[in-house]
Amino acid sequence: MSGNLVVIGTQWGDEGKGKIVDWLTDQFAAVVRFQGGHNAGHTLVIQGEKTVLHLIPSGILRPQVRCLIGNGVVLSLSALVEELETLAQAGIATAGRLQVSGACNLILPYHIALDQARERALGNLAIGTTGRGIGPCYEDKAARRGIRLYELLDADHFSQRVRAVMAYHNAILQQVFGAAEPLACQPVIDAALAYRERIKPLIADVPAELHALSQAGQRILFEGAQGALLDIDHGTYPYVTSSNTLAGAAASGSGVGPRALHYVLGIVKAYTTRVGSGPFPTELDDAVGQQLGERGHEFGATTGRKRRCGWLDIVALRRSLQLNSVSGLCVTKLDVLDGLETLKLCVAYRYQGQELTTPPIDGRQFAACEPVYEELPGWADNTAGITCYDDLPAAAKSYLARIAALCDTPLAVISTGPDRTETMVLDAQLDHMQVADR
Ligand code: GDP
Ligand code: IMO
Ligand code: MG
Repeated sequence: MSGNLVVIGTQWGDEGKGKIVDWLTDQFAAVVRFQGGHNAGHTLVIQGEKTVLHLIPSGILRPQVRCLIGNGVVLSLSALVEELETLAQAGIATAGRLQVSGACNLILPYHIALDQARERALGNLAIGTTGRGIGPCYEDKAARRGIRLYELLDADHFSQRVRAVMAYHNAILQQVFGAAEPLACQPVIDAALAYRERIKPLIADVPAELHALSQAGQRILFEGAQGALLDIDHGTYPYVTSSNTLAGAAASGSGVGPRALHYVLGIVKAYTTRVGSGPFPTELDDAVGQQLGERGHEFGATTGRKRRCGWLDIVALRRSLQLNSVSGLCVTKLDVLDGLETLKLCVAYRYQGQELTTPPIDGRQFAACEPVYEELPGWADNTAGITCYDDLPAAAKSYLARIAALCDTPLAVISTGPDRTETMVLDAQLDHMQVADR
């Protein structure tokens, strides 16, 4: 394949984006994050060794690949530096390879306090956020009071800005949420300024860097975080994250135009998971759900929370594929279904006696939808670690083919295990160098 690739989640996150980005990255000069923040948790496994990335793009384990964090990302300085240190301890050199847009909005401690206060106040209706200040930081950005990374470079200006913004937020924390004391400004300012020298060399004009790469004929991979059903506009609002998670956001969140996005790879877990609250029509509260969770190790890579599990929801998936103009499907965690006697695909919803084939936009209607299933036979053999499509059990191939047919989208990649190499590429456009150990 020539050109640039966008990798996005088509469900509620944790589809295996990180693994696939790492696998494909050897064909690209650079990997760019364009939205979200350290609410993401992307797991990479290379020869049994696990790395979890939250902010740093999943190309970082490939020494020749550049990693960029675009303007659409909300940036916690402490999370970034901590992640850099963890990588350094693991012997991964990042110097000169990571660049961060000066236009990133900073997540500061008052965002975290607000995120947590809001969740507490919502009680039963809490969204189940990661509690990392993501939502309040995007609120500040949209309200045009957010503090951007480049503002950190002028200490006096930065201090004034933090004081002004904190006056506003302290009023909310105290008057709306009943905080006993205001948050003190000076420690917030001092802690942020302490990162200045470490961060300064990383600050870059990301749009200019991406343009230069393109001019030089180099290829760029855009790495999505979260998933389409968590999108602030098109997801299961209000049980969503606060950014646009769709492929289109790769352009605005990094600083390229839409014509720079050539192929969109939609990552689909072979079943469905969700962390946090919100509607989930195919959720299983039974032994099968339990089994999926255990076999799939479905615990959040960021918060360690148990993920809710259920069957694959084709109705929601089809909407995601349209929203993202997905070129090809990447089905992950096929191996987790090994040994299940029967598999179910949700092909329609039942809502107030009617059968729907598209998900309702109204969240309360969506929450009232019941799944209509099509049953398929499972397989007794193992698919774990298989890297040749022809070696898959016939029933596994039928399951995959049925998904592709229902979605009217070709299968591009299949993943049969967490390790980098437990992957097969079916779309020749994506695979110009099929070497087993890449
Ligand atoms: P991301 O947020 O989309 O990058 O996904 P996460 O890393 O949060 O969650 C995916 C989990 O599934 C991680 O623990 C991966 O190591 C693991 N994983 C990815 N692909 C496969 C696969 O094909 N099979 C199995 N068994 N595990 C996988
Ligand atoms: P990756 O990139 C799964 C969920 C949270 C919560 C909602 C809002 O690893 O797929 P937030 O902290 O963003 O305001 O929380 O979104 N959420 C994710 N769920 N994977 C993620 O990222 C997520 N990032 C946020 O659980 O329901
Ligand atoms: Mg994750």
